[in-house]
Amino acid sequence: MNNEDLFKNIIGHSKEYGFIFPSSEIYDGLSATYDYGQMGVEMKKNIRDFWWKAMVQLNENIVGLDAAIFMHPTTWKASGHVDAFNDPLIDNKDSKKRYRADVLIEDHMAKLDAKADKEVEKAAKRFENFDAAMYRATNERVKGYMDQKEAIRTRFVNALEANDLTEVRQIIIDLEIVCPLSGSKNWTEVRQFNLMFATEMGAMAEGASTIYLRPETAQGIFVNYLNVQKSGRMKIPFGIAQTGKAFRNEIVARQFIFRMREFEQMEMQFFVKPGTELDWFEKWKQKRLAWHHAIGLGEQNYRFHAHDKLAHYANAAFDIEFNFPFGFKELEGIHSRTDFDLTQHEKFSGKKLQYFDPEMNESYVPYVVETSIGLDRTFLAVLSSSYKEEKLEDGSERTVLALPPFLAPVKLAILPLVKKDGLPEKAMEIFNQLRFDHNIIYEEKDSIGKRYRRQDAIGTPFCITIDHDTLVDNAVTLRDRDTMKQERVPIEQLSGIVEEKVGVRKVLERLG
Ligand code: GAP
Repeated sequence: MNNEDLFKNIIGHSKEYGFIFPSSEIYDGLSATYDYGQMGVEMKKNIRDFWWKAMVQLNENIVGLDAAIFMHPTTWKASGHVDAFNDPLIDNKDSKKRYRADVLIEDHMAKLDAKADKEVEKAAKRFENFDAAMYRATNERVKGYMDQKEAIRTRFVNALEANDLTEVRQIIIDLEIVCPLSGSKNWTEVRQFNLMFATEMGAMAEGASTIYLRPETAQGIFVNYLNVQKSGRMKIPFGIAQTGKAFRNEIVARQFIFRMREFEQMEMQFFVKPGTELDWFEKWKQKRLAWHHAIGLGEQNYRFHAHDKLAHYANAAFDIEFNFPFGFKELEGIHSRTDFDLTQHEKFSGKKLQYFDPEMNESYVPYVVETSIGLDRTFLAVLSSSYKEEKLEDGSERTVLALPPFLAPVKLAILPLVKKDGLPEKAMEIFNQLRFDHNIIYEEKDSIGKRYRRQDAIGTPFCITIDHDTLVDNAVTLRDRDTMKQERVPIEQLSGIVEEKVGVRKVLERLG
């Protein structure tokens, strides 16, 4: 199965089993907005909790915050979002379809990558009768594609840096990029498009002021930095962490929950002494990568990517990219934001946002290192790399979500073998003991095989079966989702065994 079909199956599966639904589906949905169903909401919460515990609970110098989504409109003037939070857009005159100009160019570069990969694949297939001449020819073709790509990248980065939109359009024309819908090269000019959603605050149109739905949670942290520092008696270096919704009017919304117009971020701003920010930047890069690795999706699926063009406020910026079904793409951004935001807020508010450093006996505006991760993108990373369609030894098939157990929405299913002979009552007894510790399910409908398959499909790491022997030996069968192996376990040990296997504690201990 190719990756495109696999991705379609993942999207279908996540709807069928209550992870993610299109928003307001009965009205044919709303583009780039999604709802999390009964399974999705649990898994999303587990990911959010894991981030919160790793950032706030395990770091004594990081505290939390929950700022309002609505903020004073001047916030967004100061932060630069009103003037510069733009994407370059271009329309195709024949299809009337709108695209992000940078995405069209990036897609073209990705095609060159794919061509080079194909050459290598072809060469690998002919490996046995491969001679030096063929090797040289393959090498040259691969190098040709890579050189073309690098030349495009350089031209594109230069155009972005010079904010030269005419040149961005010219690159699209020169590369003969066509509209995927109309197939035509009939492009408009490239224009900047502000990504913030605006609305009115106040009941009457007149006298109401324009406010914005926040496009990042970070500004809520900046404007509260002194409140937190003073009320919490925080000493630099310290961090403020926050999770919450952010909104962007994305021009191109695609790839399911990867790029949405309403999404959730988990951000942390770390306030440091000026001059130490690049050391802290390196530390946070490594700490955040370790957090991703601890999830257990495979270290080879992550890589760092340095930003081609630094934002005006940053003096260093890296992304952590994940290997999604559609290739390596940004999952988290780590930015050294200098003192830009706090200085801007000082300027626009007229309030001092300085920190008095008792060791240096002087005041300064702290520098900031930011870690900013998309909760929905992390959800997609976990979901997509856990989805498996397996052929079993007996010829049957199953679809299983091999989710990291500590993130699974349901930790345990309690299944009486039959609906009689006192087995449901015994099963309910166990259910009532364990439900205080974990999100668990009780199910008695359908054959045991069907019930196992249903639990596999939602990623339940363990099933407990209560059979007739249970009534005699007070033991149950514990079935492992991934190996499908079964072992007999005394009921009194269940709680401890399950906690050991599905609890978050062990994962956090690795982060120390
Ligand atoms: N405060 C910095 C900031 O917002 P960003 O790189 O624009 O930086 C951070 O966003 C993270 O938020 C991204 O790495 C991504 O995971 C997530 N994100 C951004 N836009 C998104 C969108 N439209 N849909 C889903 N997630 C998004």
